[in-house]
Amino acid sequence: MPREIRLLTTPTGLPRPEDFEIAEAPVPAPAEGEVLLRNRFFHVFAALRSLLAGGVKGAPFPPVRPGDALFGPAIGEVVSAPDGSGLRPGELVFHWLGWREYAVSPVGQCVPLGDTLPDPVAHLSQGLTAYAALAGNVSPGDTVFVSGGAGAVGTMAGQVARLLGAGRVVGSTGSPEKGERLVAELGYDAAVIRGADSLDRQAAPISEQLGKAAPDGIDVFVDTVGGEQLQAALAAARPGARFVLAGALSGQMAANASGTTAEVELDVYQLILKGVVMRGLRIPDGLRTEWLDRFGGWLRTGEIVFPHVRVPGIENAARALQEVIGGRHLGTVVVEL
Ligand SMILES: NC(=O)c1ccc[n+]([C@@H]2O[C@H](COP(=O)([O-])OP(=O)(O)OC[C@H]3O[C@@H](n4cnc5c(N)ncnc54)[C@H](OP(=O)(O)O)[C@@H]3O)[C@@H](O)[C@H]2O)c1
Repeated sequence: MPREIRLLTTPTGLPRPEDFEIAEAPVPAPAEGEVLLRNRFFHVFAALRSLLAGGVKGAPFPPVRPGDALFGPAIGEVVSAPDGSGLRPGELVFHWLGWREYAVSPVGQCVPLGDTLPDPVAHLSQGLTAYAALAGNVSPGDTVFVSGGAGAVGTMAGQVARLLGAGRVVGSTGSPEKGERLVAELGYDAAVIRGADSLDRQAAPISEQLGKAAPDGIDVFVDTVGGEQLQAALAAARPGARFVLAGALSGQMAANASGTTAEVELDVYQLILKGVVMRGLRIPDGLRTEWLDRFGGWLRTGEIVFPHVRVPGIENAARALQEVIGGRHLGTVVVEL
């Protein structure tokens, strides 16, 4: 019998494996206009915590309630598709119904992978987010700071910044070991280590570390964390710096808070006096095609890598989520079915 991961109870703090169950469910029957898919991979991502905790008002994704199957980016193989849909059995598509072995999805929500990328799993990369934050925003020689540098977005952002001409790239992460990997493998020149915010460990304040890692200041900030790291970036900003706010892991991952808000206190005088431009990231329609063309080209020439961890089996998915939240991995974490 096929299996899926369902939420058992709304987590009171950070989600734990016991908040989920692996339920058996018959192979779903597609209705008119729907495609039956057998999933091959799905993405395990920390931001799910906000959806499990009730969701964020205005967000494009609904909350997950007890009894619901989880969802998220997935690669599925078409088992059957309606006539005239253009989809063929055996073809791989991107869709949003991960966390289950079989899914039915409306035709319009299944995107054929084609052959732009050499490996289907690379379609689960969060590089599009990094590209949307950086393309047209980085000038040759710029210093770029990426918070959450070891996450799915951040491991792509350092490399993309470098390929787009950045002169110096600094990333933040949760451990010195991951910091070394950012520098050795992923295009970063230096890493700063988050400490006092959530890990039971002494570390110098991010602002102090960033002052040393980028002594002349930063021109571009790709923020996936917020909080202390956003404050530090503002203190380090050069005049006219561009800040792109993509995520808010410091709020989403806060063990003692709801995970659905991400507040931060900023010195507005610094924003004004430095003329910092700050925007929230919305990925423009149509950018995906441009990104996939460039990503595929860079993968084939070896100029970029897709850092990811493959966890085998749906039975390990809830544990994988806990590990992602705990910062145990580097890059995109996928469950392989
Ligand atoms: N705007 C958009 O279109 C868009 C698209 C995709 C993602 N996002 C957002 O971007 C953010 C990053 O996504 P992602 O997929 O890269 O994340 P991810 O890979 O799921 O991030 C996991 C990492 O978060 C870090 N982390 C855990 N607790 C933290 C804490 N308390 N403070 C700071 N970092 C913590 C850990 O890395 P370390 O231990 O190394 O710090 C962990 O490995 C999320 O907020 C997501 O919602 C936005």
